[in-house]
Formats: sequence, C-alpha cells, structure tokens
Amino acid sequence: MSNVEQTLSIIKPDAVERNLHEQIKNNFIENGFDIKNEKKIKISKSEAEEFYKVHQSKPFYDELCNYLSSGPIVVMILERENAVTENRKLMGATDPTKAEEGTLRKKYGISIDKNSVHGSDSIENAKIEIDFFFKS
Ligand code: CMP
Repeated sequence: MSNVEQTLSIIKPDAVERNLHEQIKNNFIENGFDIKNEKKIKISKSEAEEFYKVHQSKPFYDELCNYLSSGPIVVMILERENAVTENRKLMGATDPTKAEEGTLRKKYGISIDKNSVHGSDSIENAKIEIDFFFKS
C-alpha cells in the first residue's frame, strides 16, 4: 500500500555558507525524494524561537535559535513513501560524530549545532513545520 508523505527539511546555515545546498538537494533526489517546494531565506531570531519552541526548556535553546537565524537557510517540502522516517535515516544521528557512514550529517556536519540539516521528527510535526514556512 502506498504511504506517500511529506516532510520538512532545512539545509542549515553551515551548509549553505559552504555552498553545499545543491549537493545536499541531489542527495535527496537520488534517494527518491521529490522536492515539492523550496526557498532560500534568512529568518529572524524570534522566528527561530517559534520554530524550535519544543526545545525551549533545553540548555542549548538560545544558542540553537541564534544559530538558525545566523545566515541563509534552504527550506524544502520533501515527498516520497515514508518521507519522515526515510529522511531521518538519510540525515543520520543528530551528532555528526555518531552518525553512520553515508548519512548527510556524517558527510557534511561539523558539530552537533552545525549538523547541516534538520528534518521533521513525526508526521504531525511535519505538517506544523511545513505550515510554518509555506502557509501563505
Ligand atoms: P535539529 O534536528 O535541527 O533539532 C534541534 C537541534 O538542536 C539539533 O538538530 C541540533 O543541531 C541542536 N542541538 C544542539 N545541542 C544539542 C544537544 N545537546 N542535543 C540535541 N540537539 C542539540
């Protein structure tokens, strides 16, 4: 049975700054994702705080929001079967030093903060995150 889903992906400032966004987009395409919508934007600190509000009690929240708003990012709607899970597999562990060989964070990530990509962690959050960036 087909289980086509959409998920939100962000190519973070560290990757855009190193001009890796086209290469990272190709990884998604090669792994069967359709990029249904995309835009390169720079968000404000308060927008980053809203986006990452599930993490507001974490000690790294302020730094995380400063970081996501520090430079241009590329946000994309990715679609394929089991998109949420497949994107998380392709990204690898949050900490690039713990990510498996071949994953995006292993290939491109610099540190747990500068880990190059974000992906929604559930279908419910994917809907919220897609609306956050793409609802007109
Ligand atoms: P992301 O998938 O975008 O979701 C939250 C981000 O917080 C995560 O990627 C990391 O880049 C960042 N982060 C910073 N420090 C930590 C930490 N100690 N544990 C988990 N995430 C962290």
